[in-house]
Amino acid sequence: MTDLPFVLDAMTLDDIPAVMSIERRVFSSMWSSGIYRHELTANPWSHYRVLRPTRPDLPPILAYGGVWQMDRSAHIPTIATHPDYQGRGLGGYVLLHLLLLGEKLGCHEATLEVRASNHVAQRLYLRYGFEVVGIRYRYYNDNGEDALIMTRPSLVREELQMELRRLRPWLQARWANILQTEPH
Ligand SMILES: CC(C)(COP(=O)(O)OP(=O)(O)OC[C@H]1O[C@@H](n2cnc3c(N)ncnc32)[C@H](O)[C@@H]1OP(=O)(O)O)[C@@H](O)C(=O)NCCC(=O)NCCS
Repeated sequence: MTDLPFVLDAMTLDDIPAVMSIERRVFSSMWSSGIYRHELTANPWSHYRVLRPTRPDLPPILAYGGVWQMDRSAHIPTIATHPDYQGRGLGGYVLLHLLLLGEKLGCHEATLEVRASNHVAQRLYLRYGFEVVGIRYRYYNDNGEDALIMTRPSLVREELQMELRRLRPWLQARWANILQTEPH
């Protein structure tokens, strides 16, 4: 079985252009590069990760996301996968690592907000142990859409590591197939 063609790494200021090119394609209301600069340099509670390919024929960043340490809660402010590589397990892989990072920072639960219409993201969160616990009405300024508040009520290192161990062989098989059959 081949190894995975990407590694998880800390996001740096040099990553912002590649992150922005993904933001432009996947979010209707995107963050600015200034927000990322602030997050990386001036927010002591934020931690961002990227998935960097280990092959030159893949885009410079495949997926990324962040976690804010908010007391005992790990808040996921953003997560995204390159639009050409969605549905291949990368969102789950990044999410699990962000949850592990939250656990390492001392958080006992994880929270996030998601657009009521974003069923793909909601499925991802449900798959990884989140449940809907509330609604923020008209939360999004651009279209007045509601946000669902989703929480993963427990962050236990052994459980998260087991989820990663379960995901890994699926990812390896999926990516071996992608790299054999898809042009890049
Ligand atoms: C939401 C988002 C991050 C998900 O990323 P992704 O890389 O496509 O996520 P994954 O591939 O891990 O999961 C999606 C699908 O992959 C497949 N998959 C992933 N892991 C799998 C596994 N272990 N076994 C089988 N199928 C799996 C499934 O088809 C899954 O869909 P399902 O939930 O209907 O079963 C991505 O769609 C995105 O960037 N969207 C735009 C930005 C966005 O909305 N961000 C969230 C803001 S709250």
